[in-house]
Amino acid sequence: MNTLLFDMTGGPDPDGIRQAGTIIRQGGLVAFPTETVYGLGGDALRADASKKIYAAKGRPSDNPLIVHIADMAHLPAIVSGIPDSARVLAQHFWPGPLTMILHKSALVPKATTGGLETVAVRMPDHPVALALIRSGGGYIAAPSANASGRPSPTRASHVMEDLNGRIDAVIDGGSVAIGLESTIVDLTEDHPVILRPGFISREMLQQALGTDVGIDPGIAGISADARPKAPGMKYRHYAPKADLAVVEGDREKVIALIREKTVSNLQAGIKTGIITCLEDAADYTGGVVRTLGSLRDEQQIAAGLFAVLREFDQLDVTQIYSEAFDTPQLGQAIMNRLLKAAGGKVIHV
Ligand code: TXA
Ligand code: MG
Repeated sequence: MNTLLFDMTGGPDPDGIRQAGTIIRQGGLVAFPTETVYGLGGDALRADASKKIYAAKGRPSDNPLIVHIADMAHLPAIVSGIPDSARVLAQHFWPGPLTMILHKSALVPKATTGGLETVAVRMPDHPVALALIRSGGGYIAAPSANASGRPSPTRASHVMEDLNGRIDAVIDGGSVAIGLESTIVDLTEDHPVILRPGFISREMLQQALGTDVGIDPGIAGISADARPKAPGMKYRHYAPKADLAVVEGDREKVIALIREKTVSNLQAGIKTGIITCLEDAADYTGGVVRTLGSLRDEQQIAAGLFAVLREFDQLDVTQIYSEAFDTPQLGQAIMNRLLKAAGGKVIHV
């Protein structure tokens, strides 16, 4: 299959949007930018399109897809009732990086929801995404547009790396703004529960709802033995080819340990990758150092993480050490991804 590339780095191009929308309505697949990560879109109401998405990604079919909408008027058709909490959260955070789990209507095929009676819904905050959803019929199922297990794509080139020749088209909208997948909140139980941390924090949700919001104990890094409710959270993810460990603790000690490992690796002929922040970068020599950004700009740190994990796959490092990034607002979301990439491997100093 020849994968078409649409350039919309300057914004939605009406002609390209029309063509891409036609591909979606005919059951084809189009990868597109959102504010979080690139998505791999297909018509959410067609089981055949959802099956193609799973096949293209190599994704297990019990891992449900998020249905993306562009207008509130389109929500009632795909859910079987809208709780007040969903209306409040939509008002506050849509369009934006928040996915809500609701009970599905009969219109949504089980092929899209991984066999579940619930459906994940999100309205992305990106002009190209919104234009494509409207042109494609109103309901686009889209997981992150990476091959299963790889870091989510934050640029069109990442999508091409993983899916060129496997999907009909890619829309290039430039680098994404956030760089971490949306926060997922489950609204199907008595109390709202976060299934995946993201840019919209627990505090923001609690403030909007005026109630307590729980966190799924199955989320990586919280409890080792609880099973996560979002099926996708149980899979090893984002894993670079090299062995990755996160080093956590007192800053001076973290730096000392990574320096020590880099030197002993060098003596053994092993090249070490180091993931750090602007403030600490000069402390490291003898390894392949990648700086995510300043600790004072946690959005920049979040936005650069997946690209750096991908970049290390192109470099011949066999061991990577990353500093921990427990930043105030996005720390939980960043550490969730980083710990998954490390397969839970943490060194406390
Ligand atoms: O930011 C995002 O959410 C991106 C962009 C493209 O919108 N999408 C994304 O999709 O991250 P994906 O498929 O990579 O992750 C969806 C997550 C998975 O962990 C999946 O298990 C969970 O959402 N999920 C989907 N439907 C669910 C449901 N009905 N109940 C529980 N978890 C669900
Ligand atoms: Mg994903």
